[in-house]
Amino acid sequence: MYAFVIGANGLLGSAVVQTLREQGHDVVGGYHSAAPAFDCPLHQVDITDTEWVVELLDEYGVDVVINCAAYTDVDGCESNPELANAVNAVAPSTIAGACRDREIPFVHYSTDYVFDGETDTFYEEADDASPIQEYGRSKLAGEHAVREANAEALILRLSFVYGARGDTGDLVGFPQWVASTLAAGDTVPLFTDQAMTPSRAGNVAATTLELLDAGASGIFHVASQSAVTPYEFGEAICEVIAGDETLIESSVMADLDRPAARPRRSCLDVSKLENKLGRSQPTLDADLGALEAAFSDYSS
Ligand SMILES: NC(=O)c1ccc[n+]([C@@H]2O[C@H](COP(=O)([O-])OP(=O)(O)OC[C@H]3O[C@@H](n4cnc5c(N)ncnc54)[C@H](OP(=O)(O)O)[C@@H]3O)[C@@H](O)[C@H]2O)c1
Repeated sequence: MYAFVIGANGLLGSAVVQTLREQGHDVVGGYHSAAPAFDCPLHQVDITDTEWVVELLDEYGVDVVINCAAYTDVDGCESNPELANAVNAVAPSTIAGACRDREIPFVHYSTDYVFDGETDTFYEEADDASPIQEYGRSKLAGEHAVREANAEALILRLSFVYGARGDTGDLVGFPQWVASTLAAGDTVPLFTDQAMTPSRAGNVAATTLELLDAGASGIFHVASQSAVTPYEFGEAICEVIAGDETLIESSVMADLDRPAARPRRSCLDVSKLENKLGRSQPTLDADLGALEAAFSDYSS
């Protein structure tokens, strides 16, 4: 298979490129501002320049397009809703349409932030979406526009993406911040009033390829089985690195003054995915176990 991965320098994009290559597939990557460290064809791509994107997919004659690019700065989207809509909705739908015309699969990622978080249970794919900030609104618009342009598109909703970069193996984002802060002996304030089902980038990448193999289309939730607060997530990381638990402090979302509202509980039900693939999604502990090598730099 020849895959075109757009957003190849992002956390998920780099994991998808790495997983494709590990499984023996050819990859051409599109990156935005900085190139990832992969030895494969790479091109600078602004996803809103859809003519260039389509030219590239034709030039390489790819068999699948996997769109990992997105404007993911939740607070930035609040003051730039037009850019959020252009990157997260309009451009993906144009590319989805180009894939439909060429009869090749198109994979797109969405988010738990399409939900308002006002629930005490897990969201299923068919539940009403009602985003409470511009980022979620642009991602929901993207889901609708992609499906309208290409009824066969595969749309995977993720929740709190974390993990190690596919090119360097380095931890990034939340686990890196928690592990490095604890390793430095500093306190880590973590929310106790928010819950999610964290999606490990490596699991999302492998699951994406399994779903493509199974010829899946439509919306699926891809997340951990475990619903946790950031505080509990931090405790689990602390255990992996044998850190000092007393450095983890509880805080609440209202302690941070941020432009965009966040859902209180955006846990994703993964039964549709598990039924489709005939296997279970990992627990948070299993996912953290898969990152043991990346955490070893921070272990005491
Ligand atoms: N991060 C999360 O917690 C989370 C949760 C749920 C769903 N998701 C979804 O998961 C997917 C992957 O996100 P991620 O976590 O891998 O985020 P990420 O690390 O921020 O990656 C996003 C990538 O998109 C690129 N990008 C931004 N604007 C672009 C543009 N105009 N043209 C081309 N590329 C552009 C960024 O490049 P530059 O950095 O160079 O601009 C970056 O490499 C996204 O669809 C996101 O909405 C993420």
